[in-house]
Amino acid sequence: MASPAAGGVVIVGSGLIGRSWALLFASGGFKVKLYDIEQQQITNALEVIRKELKSLEQSGSLKGSLSAEQQSALISGCVNLAEAVEGAMHIQECAPENLELKKKIFAQLDRLVDDRVVLSSSSSCLLPSKLFAGLAHVKQCIVAHPVNPPYYVPLVELVPHPETAPATMDRTYALMRKIGQSPVRVLKEVDGFVLNRLQYAVIGEAWRLVEEGIVSPNDLDLVMSDGLGMRYAFIGPLETMHLNAEGIVSYCDRYSDGMKRVLKTFGPVPEFSGATAEKVNQDMCMKVPDDPEHLASRRQWRDDCLKSLAKLKQKAQPQ
Ligand code: NAI
Repeated sequence: MASPAAGGVVIVGSGLIGRSWALLFASGGFKVKLYDIEQQQITNALEVIRKELKSLEQSGSLKGSLSAEQQSALISGCVNLAEAVEGAMHIQECAPENLELKKKIFAQLDRLVDDRVVLSSSSSCLLPSKLFAGLAHVKQCIVAHPVNPPYYVPLVELVPHPETAPATMDRTYALMRKIGQSPVRVLKEVDGFVLNRLQYAVIGEAWRLVEEGIVSPNDLDLVMSDGLGMRYAFIGPLETMHLNAEGIVSYCDRYSDGMKRVLKTFGPVPEFSGATAEKVNQDMCMKVPDDPEHLASRRQWRDDCLKSLAKLKQKAQPQ
């Protein structure tokens, strides 16, 4: 729980991700101010958050030790950025993924803050060296990239600018742990960070396998959802290697020749268009028609599954 002296959190941009961060910080007992350029967005966000807190409480999924009402009382809106950031200890930017817009926001924040606050961006793929270039408070800047939906998928990638102070990384890491998230330290910035590099490696090979007529789009997805994904919810690829032989060294002894042989057969980067795109689209739309209602209901089902998985993972902590 946050101590009353801890200082508040400011969310800049109260859309999908801003609202999720607000829920998470309030679950940790932090006061949260939601800022947006659109007054209506703030009003909507506060309404959605209140409803979400009630429904989380009713389904027994509410995080933290405070009631839905107590958490709701910690979250307020503010249309004046200077007022919002006063006394804040952490600012989480959640504006649309547009480099020029985000640079403008960080330049504004840079003029308003002192040297005690952490300036953090939720960016999915903009490099810190581009986002924070030339800021006076660059040492206090970091990317904290969440995964959607952050309330049930706890990973947060922390990505520093080359000049980010180690203390900024440490403070952000500790804050993420305090609100129940699972931070990882990306030690040097790289395009795609870590999560999307892994995701794109999988998507790239999935696409090539369908393109080459080796497997259907639906069966490809089953390989992940009923195969690899089952264990990846609990252990990563490196621990998988460790457990699938008598340790990593033994795995490499046994399987590295085969891995290298197969890896050398991987094809070039796909175009993600043309006949393969049509084929994938056809199969996906048979399963989930791409109109807003069907997509929303499938997303709801996915989030319900993730909610149950998050509970299972909590119970399944190793001794
Ligand atoms: P969104 O479009 O739902 O929300 C953006 C909000 O920012 C809107 O409320 C908008 O009014 C506000 N905004 C626009 N200009 C602003 C300004 N100058 N100052 C303050 N607020 C402003 O976007 P979403 O999906 O919440 O994404 C936000 C960030 O989070 C992006 O950088 C995105 O890449 C990142 N992200 C998104 C994920 C997702 O699945 N949606 C997952 C992980 C990260």
